[in-house]
Formats: sequence, structure tokens, C-alpha cells
Amino acid sequence: MNKIITVFRGDGIGPELAESALRILKAAHAPLTYEIFDVGEGEWRRNGALIPDAAFASFEKTRVLLKAPITTPVGGGFRSLNVTLRGKYDLYANIRPVKSSTAVKTPFHDVDIVIFRENTEGLYVGKEEQIDENTVHAVKIVTRKASERIIRDAFEYARLHGRTKVTCVHKANILKRSDGMFLEIFREIARGYADIQADDKIIDNTCMQLVMNPSQFDIMVMQNLYGDLISDLCSGLIGGLGLVPSSNIGKEYAMFEAVHGSAPDIAGKHLANPTAFVWSACMMLEYLKEFECAGKIRQAVDRVLAKGEHLTRDLRGAASTEEYVEAVIAEL
Ligand code: NAI
Repeated sequence: MNKIITVFRGDGIGPELAESALRILKAAHAPLTYEIFDVGEGEWRRNGALIPDAAFASFEKTRVLLKAPITTPVGGGFRSLNVTLRGKYDLYANIRPVKSSTAVKTPFHDVDIVIFRENTEGLYVGKEEQIDENTVHAVKIVTRKASERIIRDAFEYARLHGRTKVTCVHKANILKRSDGMFLEIFREIARGYADIQADDKIIDNTCMQLVMNPSQFDIMVMQNLYGDLISDLCSGLIGGLGLVPSSNIGKEYAMFEAVHGSAPDIAGKHLANPTAFVWSACMMLEYLKEFECAGKIRQAVDRVLAKGEHLTRDLRGAASTEEYVEAVIAEL
């Protein structure tokens, strides 16, 4: 019997990506039924709701969401819907695999990192207080509960997937209490995983090490803001944001999305690379234990990337989004 999932089409390149992934999922005969919703800035302009009640209700029923990117206004405006969804449904583990593809030429060939980003607290709680005209305080929340569960998940993932090392990324030299506690919890938990190497690095040094020698890293675990920044940096090591998928996992709900945003600069121009979003759909299929279907799609995408005849412009190709999708479907 088909599993029902919710799909949010998002803003900018979101609808193009949703369309691409749905075509590929259907071509691969994924055993899924889709409840599809427009959400985000566009929906708010059209109908006055960023996320319609029916879309929330669908996710609360299906508990699995494939979400295309959503635009968030810079400076003022509404709070990020991504941050809202992660908080509302306690999607605490943001897991972002970053892996070199032999088909995409970059200075590095052996990047294989999985980032575990704490997804519910840190500076992203959005507690900003105007003290006076020239002073604003932003509060960073760090709790033992949220730190423990993301760090433990990183070690469990390492064990399950035969990984050898977990690195904690922090700024505990300056933020001695908040990051200090995160690091202390990391060291406590690491003691229970003697089979896995554990080390830690200050975030500034981490950035330099990543662009000099990324293959030294395996699993990386960090707080919310650091995870946001480090994942975009890592995407640059393997050929860009078009290649990094993610899952946002909680105890009851799961949401799958590309790491990148709504890319308004290329929206509607048929230039979007759907790979990251299609791989996010594969992560969703794996979460649903549809391994065979996920594997089939992954192989088809790998073949298209390896042949190099239908690459999108971000990968130095000339194919449109639709041509790329056709090529993947032909491989399927
Ligand atoms: P972005 O990730 O949308 O784009 C950064 C650069 O990467 C742009 O040059 C864009 O064209 C390119 N790019 C991104 N995805 C691509 C793809 N699939 N194929 C080819 N090129 C791609 O970041 P930006 O421009 O800073 O943010 C735009 C909007 O997206 C903002 O409103 C931001 O808040 C939102 N955003 C949403 C996210 C989400 O829904 N999870 C995550 C990150 C940003």
C-alpha cells in the first residue's frame, strides 16, 4: 500500500524542484501518494497565509514532509518558516551529507562528511531585544537536553554507518558556558563510544582546515548557526549547493529538503539543479524504508552526473532543469 507524504512547493526555484522530484519519484514507481501544497511568500501574497491550515494538517497526519525551499525576508518581515517548522515539530537533528562526486570537478576528490546540526535552539530561537536605539541583545539558548540528543545521534549514526570519527565544532574558548557545556556533553557522551574516535575543533580553525584538507573530517556535530554556515562552506568543496540534501528528523516527524534556499536569482529561468532536492527525496525514501526505490533513483542520478551530457549550469553544463530531469528519467 502506498505511503502518504506531504509536499510543500515553496518559493523561488521551489516549485520547479518539487515538479522535478515528483516526476522522478513517479517514474521510479515510488510507492507514495502525495498531498501537495503551495506555501511561503507567494502563498501569503495570494491567500494571506504563509502555510495554509490544510498544509499543517496534512503534515500532522502524514508526519513526513518533502519541502522545497521557502524565501525568508532579510532584516524585517516574518520569521523563517523553516525555523518555525523545525521548532514546531521538534525536528531536532538536521543531517546533511556532503560527498564528492567523481563526475563533478573540484579541487577535492574525497570529501565524505556528514554534518549533524542542532536544529531547535542556539541563536535561531530569534530572541532579540531592543535595549535602546543603538543596542540590541540576541539571546543564544543552549540546553543539555537538545545538546545531548544531537550529539548522541551523531555517534549512533557513526556506529550504524561504520564511520570512524566524530568531531565537535564549537567556540568554547570564547563562549565558555554555552559552547563550553556543549563540548563538555560531547566529551561525556564520547566516553560511551570507545569504538569511535572523538575530537573537537574551534570553528574558525575548522573553516581553515575544511578548505585546506577536508578529507580529515568524517561526522561533524555542532550547534545551529555553526551548522548552517559550515554546511554551505562544505557544499562549495564538492561543487555547490545544488548537490547537498538534508533531513530534519524528530521523534515523531521528519522533513526533507535541500540545504540551499529559494535561489530567487535563477527562479523561473530553468537553471535550477534539482540534484540536492532529489537526493533529499531519496533520504525520505530511505527513512520510509523504501531502500530499493531510493537506490534506483540514486543510481540514475549518478549515471547522469557521470555521463556529464545533461548537467545544469552550476555544474558547468548547459542543460535546463527539465533536460536534466528527462535524462534521469531516461536512466530510470
Ligand atoms: P540560496 O541557497 O537560495 O542561493 C545561493 C546561491 O546558490 C545563488 O546564487 C543560487 O542561484 C545558487 N543555488 C542555490 N540552489 C541552487 C540550485 N539548486 N541550483 C543551482 N544554483 C543554486 O541562498 P540565498 O540567495 O542566500 O537565499 C535565498 C532565499 O532562500 C532567502 O530568502 C533565504 O532566507 C532562503 N533560504 C531558505 C532555505 C530553506 O528553505 N531551507 C535555506 C536557505 C535560504
